[in-house]
Amino acid sequence: MALRALARVNLAAIERNVSRLRAGLADGAGLCAVVKADGYGHGAVPAARAALAGGARSLAVATALEAAELRDAGITASVLIMGALSDEELLVALDARAEVVAWSDRFVDALVSACDRTSAMERVRVHVKLDTGMGRLGTRVFDEAIRVAERVMGAGPGLELVGAMTHFASADEDPEFTALQLSRFEPFVAALRDRRPEIVAHAANSAATLRFAASHLDLVRCGIAVYGCDPMNDDPLLHGLEPALELMSYVAALKAAAPGESAGYGRRWVARTETWLATVPVGYADGIRRGLTNNCEVLIGGRRFPLVGTVSMDNITVEVGAPDAVRCGDVVTIIGTDGAERVTAEELAGRIGTISYEITCGVSSRVPRAYHRDGEPA
Ligand SMILES: Cc1ncc(COP(=O)(O)O)c(C=O)c1O
Repeated sequence: MALRALARVNLAAIERNVSRLRAGLADGAGLCAVVKADGYGHGAVPAARAALAGGARSLAVATALEAAELRDAGITASVLIMGALSDEELLVALDARAEVVAWSDRFVDALVSACDRTSAMERVRVHVKLDTGMGRLGTRVFDEAIRVAERVMGAGPGLELVGAMTHFASADEDPEFTALQLSRFEPFVAALRDRRPEIVAHAANSAATLRFAASHLDLVRCGIAVYGCDPMNDDPLLHGLEPALELMSYVAALKAAAPGESAGYGRRWVARTETWLATVPVGYADGIRRGLTNNCEVLIGGRRFPLVGTVSMDNITVEVGAPDAVRCGDVVTIIGTDGAERVTAEELAGRIGTISYEITCGVSSRVPRAYHRDGEPA
């Protein structure tokens, strides 16, 4: 372990996760790999390439700059920007030949004027979003969604209506509400198909992909499952998914702690008996959430040891018990597998009342990523 902190990303796992997800899709449905937020912390460009190698049909991101990053890296696959776009961002989006999402007249106006201003030659491919219950982006008003779609179709050669989409609010926990959302979406899809039979209908995120085959439609938009995390925050292996990311550090210092001696800011851990502490040089600036203070375990030499004391910006302390339990330089696994032991992003998320998404996205840019394929350098 030469580095202070390292995120190892197994691109072969991403590839296999995509293949497995695709194998479970309803007939004819494709998979769009969501690589926003730097590929949920895994690295957008390598994750996108691995997902495409695993058979993803297209990619999705949240922002114009994320689309531009993929294009700058030479990725030519379709990229859908799912997020809201300001007028300035729209120009970046069009330059990146990205597909965009519309749900208001104002945005169609902005699109038409952006088409006039951009040097991009291709038609802009537009998806219209109906908000069926997420309460975020999209219009809740059916007739408005239809009107926006008709305006896109009638806007001239610059725009092309290609998709109808919605987003589920609670596919991970509420099948009834998901079914209700789907039942609101279907008439919209039917109405757009009457006008343009070849549109692509898409709604499912990872949870819906795994749990509701009826929601697969033409395309599923999978993010978290592509990275091998369980959208239900349980065990990814239950779905045949392989976590792609491991987070490691090393034992930088070892010291004895006598009863009454403490570790870390605020003295939130005090030794009750004679014990030993390992200092591991990663902290909340690397993505080890402060809520994990006295509240998680790390792996060293295939064994679990408790993190004790407050998580600092650059260090954590681990109680190892005895001076010979571990050695300086030993690898410390914060997320990942060591021997028979495994710590998942889901486990860490569960300890602090969050979701695995926040754990992997939280691995900061200060942590170098090392890409491999089942242990071989990628
Ligand atoms: C609109 C939209 N679709 C799909 C996804 C992918 O969701 P997941 O990572 O749960 O698969 C997201 C992620 O937040 C999203 O915002």
